[in-house]
Amino acid sequence: MSKTISGFSKLSKSKKIDWIVDTYFSNAEDAKTILKQYWNTNDKLQQLHDEFIENTITNYYLPLGVAPNFLINDTLYTIPMAIEESSVVAAASKAAKFWLDRGGFKTTVISTTKIGQVHFMYKGEFEKLKSFFTLIKPKLIQDSEAITKNMTKRGGGILDIELRDKTAEMENYFQLHVSFETLDAMGANFINSCLEQFAKTFKSEALNFNLFSEEEKQIEIVMSILSNYVPDCLVRAEVNCPVENLSEDPNISGEAFARKFMQAVHIAEIEPYRAVTHNKGVMNGIDAVVLATGNDFRAVEAGVHAYASRNGRYSSLSHAEIENGIFKFWMEIPLALGTVGGLTGLHPLVKLSLEMLHKPSAKELMQIVAVAGLAQNFAALRSLTTTGIQQGHMKMHLMNILNQFEANASEKTAITKHFETNAVTHNAVIEALKALRD
Ligand code: MEV
Repeated sequence: MSKTISGFSKLSKSKKIDWIVDTYFSNAEDAKTILKQYWNTNDKLQQLHDEFIENTITNYYLPLGVAPNFLINDTLYTIPMAIEESSVVAAASKAAKFWLDRGGFKTTVISTTKIGQVHFMYKGEFEKLKSFFTLIKPKLIQDSEAITKNMTKRGGGILDIELRDKTAEMENYFQLHVSFETLDAMGANFINSCLEQFAKTFKSEALNFNLFSEEEKQIEIVMSILSNYVPDCLVRAEVNCPVENLSEDPNISGEAFARKFMQAVHIAEIEPYRAVTHNKGVMNGIDAVVLATGNDFRAVEAGVHAYASRNGRYSSLSHAEIENGIFKFWMEIPLALGTVGGLTGLHPLVKLSLEMLHKPSAKELMQIVAVAGLAQNFAALRSLTTTGIQQGHMKMHLMNILNQFEANASEKTAITKHFETNAVTHNAVIEALKALRD
């Protein structure tokens, strides 16, 4: 039976676990054993994980896989991927190998600007607010110098502050719309700290502005927060090759492959139901690398999907064309990533992943992540438009089914061999396992 509790966060870890298992599990001892199985035997490492969040009771593992052979702008990478879905890493590896033999991936960072906003209410004349803003803008920047000093020294910081009138959409609503360059940091803390300082200065200085009436002086700050919509923090990834080099199947010409592939991309460009799944395939690659490198995948997801709808209809992130006999497949995608700060210096596996990627700058990581997304999308479309997705997917999923039925090592070997030449379905695996056990 569920029940409420107060002061839960103040309990020790073991008392928290006692409460959870006693409240929710018929077999409290079994539940406790499972939770503890996932604790790290290294106490220091466990404490590190405990302290990443609040009310930690155990660790939740995801596999960390690697996809080798990614050639990006003539540099070779092995890309770490943290993901639970079978066949994603295999698909990435296959796509990497395919493009390795065709010149690899080409990437460019188009822009790196991030945005934050102070949302506020002002009841009065816009002209007066504009005069106040012009007067106060240098002080906004000056008052935040303690926060921006180091970032500015390294070449980043505040790029601009704009006053935006949003009253056409909501009564009395205005914004300070601020652009930032945060270099190798994702920048959420930096941006939010700057914004909160702007809000403080803005509100207090309004009280002294002579042109304001008493009512106009009472600016109400609603909130100060970065935006995860980053259409000007954009990276492009591309692959291309002569059309005739595209097909590895002697029964399909490069031309026929390209035509069907482009049809699939075009469908995702015009049909939102398909676009969402198409882009989900892109995000299989993106999220896995974003997670492995300790970045915020929720921020990336939110920003990418907003970008996919920027023209008023949700659409494909990737595009394909043939120009002068050359097949081109590319994607432009917004990615706010960091290679310093946050988890990047804390989580031992994140540090390892970044080292595996030659300790990239944030700009380099944007390019690697975009490539992982494009490769994943290429692999998915290639399967979908040729063999169908289930053949490869179910082969990779076979082990999950075998584990579900607690197959032992020799059963796994026999069944895997059997399915080298037979189609994998859930039922077929159960039947094969039953036949073997009988
Ligand atoms: C499955 O995780 C991803 C795909 O559905 C992507 C796609 O359909 O393009 C295979």
